[in-house]
Amino acid sequence: MPEARYVRRFGRAERAQHLVLIVTFLGLAATGLPLLFSDAAWARPTARLVGGFGVTGTLHRLFAVGLIGVFLVHVGSVVARLLSGERGILWGPTSLVPQPRDVVELCRHVQWFLWRGPKPAFDRYTYWEKFDYLAVFWGMVIIGGSGLMLWFPELFARFLPGWTFNVALLVHGEEALLAVGFIVTIHFFNSHMRPRKFPMDMVMFTGVVPEGEYARERPLEYARLQSASTLEARLAPPPDPALVRLARLGGLLAVAAGLGLFLSIVVAVLSR
Ligand code: HEM
Repeated sequence: MPEARYVRRFGRAERAQHLVLIVTFLGLAATGLPLLFSDAAWARPTARLVGGFGVTGTLHRLFAVGLIGVFLVHVGSVVARLLSGERGILWGPTSLVPQPRDVVELCRHVQWFLWRGPKPAFDRYTYWEKFDYLAVFWGMVIIGGSGLMLWFPELFARFLPGWTFNVALLVHGEEALLAVGFIVTIHFFNSHMRPRKFPMDMVMFTGVVPEGEYARERPLEYARLQSASTLEARLAPPPDPALVRLARLGGLLAVAAGLGLFLSIVVAVLSR
């Protein structure tokens, strides 16, 4: 019997941005890795599936436009919220910016893992969620910047020396391996492999969490909503079962694709 009351955690815009991020990131990895490991046994057949290495390169650029686009939309929305005077974005309990209390929570969490203390009470975002979020920012600067250099070499060569293009190619490939490795191990594990969430945390797809679960997982935010009498405004009906089924299928496909990409890297590296 599903709980009747749910708490809204993510709005439509955030969920849409995350969906575009999933599709473009997996698309970029799937079209970039056959280029990086073009000598691997799986590279040529994989590229042939979409029409060859030339098409892979074109698709890679199309997915890159999508990823850079959603990144700019997200940064633009944060800037707009800041300019409109919204408070709590850069600092405070609802901010995604790491703060001293995140270090305290990390230490307490490790103590809890070792049966040396109680589980820390988390607020809207935990320290590992902030880490995941910020990883996309520096990842975008490195992989997006180097990718644009590879895409528009004539433009960048007007003000950059030649050797920087070799560095860009190296950095782009290594950062791609790091990004896929990070998403498939740390991010998937943090989000979906936790007790009560396995096999999939649906919140990024449905936007809502059962009230009891929210009170247990985010006790500080839940208590603040209650004391400020803003909880009612955040309550939502249960998610549409059709949406849940669709999200479960899409989420499983994304996790399977991520694991497949990770496995193909392992195979390529081991067979070198
Ligand atoms: C975000 C913006 C990005 C841009 C503008 C971009 C652009 C490019 C370009 C122009 C190339 C050369 C393609 C060719 O030779 O036809 C390339 C290669 C590659 N990209 Fe990206 N890319 C981006 C993001 C990503 C992401 C997120 C990944 C993986 C997670 C990725 C993985 C790769 C790999 C593995 C290669 C092959 C590198 C090599 O041959 O050593 N790229 N990228």
